[in-house]
Amino acid sequence: MRQKLVVGNWKMHGSRTQVRQLIEDVAAGTAGLNDVEIAVAPTFLHLGLAAQLSQQVGAEHPKLAAQNLYPQEQGAFTGEVSAPMLADYGVTYVIVGHSERREIFAETDQAVAVKFQAAQEGGLLPILCVGESLQQREQGSSEEVVLSQLDAVIAAAGVEALQSAVIAYEPIWAIGTGKTASPEQAQGIHRVLREHIAKSNSTIAAGVRILYGGSVKASSATELFDQTDIDGGLVGGASLKAEEFISICKSAD
Ligand code: PGA
Repeated sequence: MRQKLVVGNWKMHGSRTQVRQLIEDVAAGTAGLNDVEIAVAPTFLHLGLAAQLSQQVGAEHPKLAAQNLYPQEQGAFTGEVSAPMLADYGVTYVIVGHSERREIFAETDQAVAVKFQAAQEGGLLPILCVGESLQQREQGSSEEVVLSQLDAVIAAAGVEALQSAVIAYEPIWAIGTGKTASPEQAQGIHRVLREHIAKSNSTIAAGVRILYGGSVKASSATELFDQTDIDGGLVGGASLKAEEFISICKSAD
C-alpha cells in the first residue's frame, strides 16, 4: 500500500509572520491524521525558521521540503544551496524539475537528472515533476512528453533510483490557472507513467508514489486522490491557505 503524500509548494511567498502562522496552523490542523504524509516547501530563506518551529511544535506534520537545490556539495557557487545543507536542516524532500524552473530558469531534462541524483546522494528524497504544456496536450503528445522527462532521469540514475523518490505529474496548463485536470485525465497519465516504469521493474512501479499537481483545491482533492494511481498532491496556491491545505490533507487521510 502506498501511503498518500501531500506537499505544499509555497513558491516565492511568505514573510516570517506568515511562515510561523502557517506552520503552526498546519501542525495543529493535521494532528491526528495517521494515514497521510504531509510536507511543506517554504523558500530557502524560510526553511531554517520552519525547521525551528517544527521542532518547537513537536508535531508529526508537516515535514519539510525544499523547492530546489544545486547539484554540488559545496564550493564557489554564489547564491546556491546544496542537498547536504538542506538535509542538515532536517529537510526530507526536494522538488526537482518543476515546470517553472524548466521554463523560467531553462533547466533541461539533463540538468534535472543531475539534480535528482545530487538530491539522493545528499540524503534527500527528490520529487520529480513532469508535465506537458497546453500546446503539447492539444497536439496529443502529453504521454510522450512526460515519459521522455521521466526517461531522462531513469537513463541517468537507473530505474532503482525511483525507489527513493516521488514523481509529480503537473500539467503546465493546470498550474496556477484554476484549471484542474479531470480525475480521469490525471489518472490516465499516472497509469501511463506507472506502466512505463513497470516495464523495467514492476516492484518499483507498484511502490513509487505519483502525485498530481495543478490547481488542486479542497473541492477537487477527494476525487483526484480516489484514483487508483494518484498517491497524493503537490499543491501550490491552495497550500498558502491553512484551512484549505488542511482540508486537502484530510482528503488524503
Ligand atoms: P498550483 O501549483 O496548485 O497553484 O496550480 C502547483 C505547483 O506548481 O506545484
